[in-house]
Amino acid sequence: MKLLLKNIAVLLQIRPITTQKVSGPQMKELPKLQDAWLLLEDDVIHSYGQMSEMPDFKDLKTLDCTGKIVLPSWCDSHTHLVYAGNREQEFVDRINGLSYQEIAASGGGIINSAKKLQATPQAELFAQSEKRLQEVIQQGTGAIEIKSGYGLTTDAEIKMLRVAKKLGEKYNITVKTTFLGAHAIPPAYTNNKEGYLDLVCGEMMEQIANENLADYVDVFCEQGYFTVADTHRVLQAGTKHGLRAKTHVNQFTAIGGVAASVEHQALSVDHLEVLTKEDITALQESQTMPVALPLCSYFLSIPYTPGRDIIDAGLPLALATDYNPGSSPSGNMNLAVATACIKMKLSPEEAINAATINGAYAMGLSGSCGSITVGKKANLIITKQIPSYGYLPYAFGSTNIDQVILNGTLV
Ligand code: NIG
Ligand code: FE
Repeated sequence: MKLLLKNIAVLLQIRPITTQKVSGPQMKELPKLQDAWLLLEDDVIHSYGQMSEMPDFKDLKTLDCTGKIVLPSWCDSHTHLVYAGNREQEFVDRINGLSYQEIAASGGGIINSAKKLQATPQAELFAQSEKRLQEVIQQGTGAIEIKSGYGLTTDAEIKMLRVAKKLGEKYNITVKTTFLGAHAIPPAYTNNKEGYLDLVCGEMMEQIANENLADYVDVFCEQGYFTVADTHRVLQAGTKHGLRAKTHVNQFTAIGGVAASVEHQALSVDHLEVLTKEDITALQESQTMPVALPLCSYFLSIPYTPGRDIIDAGLPLALATDYNPGSSPSGNMNLAVATACIKMKLSPEEAINAATINGAYAMGLSGSCGSITVGKKANLIITKQIPSYGYLPYAFGSTNIDQVILNGTLV
């Protein structure tokens, strides 16, 4: 099956297959072709070029893209999209003055979501989660990472990861899964964190690895959650089970989670709302992708990740949504891109690079997603007729996407 897109006003983010990520000043560049055609064959990008030199294609299914921009789908490398119910009440509690940490300390937060998820049958959890996935696909997401971490028992963690895997199969979208058993200490282990870590690094991880349910391992390294020593323990167990690290670090405090993650060759370190000079230095000597989650900062009214400083230090940066019921009940990558420009002072070029090729890198998908490259997946966003790509973050409240293509097929 072939599909031809013609009269594309701008074909954006054209990269050679060798580009795995872009860093520092490279992030200001967004290679493009004006007045272009793009040919898809089955689920991959076959070829592209300038309209003036388009071969004489015969009898092809064709889509006219006059005035429209075509770019690779968003790569959302950090979500908790599989969850049960919502935490609207905590949202109101925060409006009325309680902090995220105060709510968590009184049994709300992650523990609240875990209680709900444990009581929700797998089919119901799937039904709730697929609505979210359908929505983010419409919003242009073409590859997504989904974490466990609202189960906190072996059965419930496995239930979450099975749902995440099944979502990928049903919707024909690339889903990478991450085991986040070390997300919070469940009430049954309040005075026995070591006991819970024994479970996470033992039975839970073994079963999950044996069933091939996870690609990565994660830990919430934060005061009141897991220490740097706990982080080493979880990441080391992950390495033993073939699960590379993608960690939650520096959301509220900088306690050394970045260096610890880098030591374990983490693929990414995510959050980084609080960042020290030492953290930047550790990242400069690594292949680890820093990931900012601006919708979490927006929703919780906490500082934004210093993305400008990260890029100016010569580092790469990826953007993700952190879609979850507590700190970011939105999986809208368009809004994440706009917020990064508005609040973190990224240029549109930097934000788009962060949300495509660098997002792909942060979930180990640079070889198949994140750019217009011959042989990569035909996952595309076709915009409405807009004046330029800078209009995407500029008109932040508008729906600027006209159509999306997943695996070569119009959704
Ligand atoms: O990435 N910070 C840790 N975990 C999630 C939120 C967890 C929750 O509040 O449910 C995050 O923000
Ligand atoms: Fe998160």
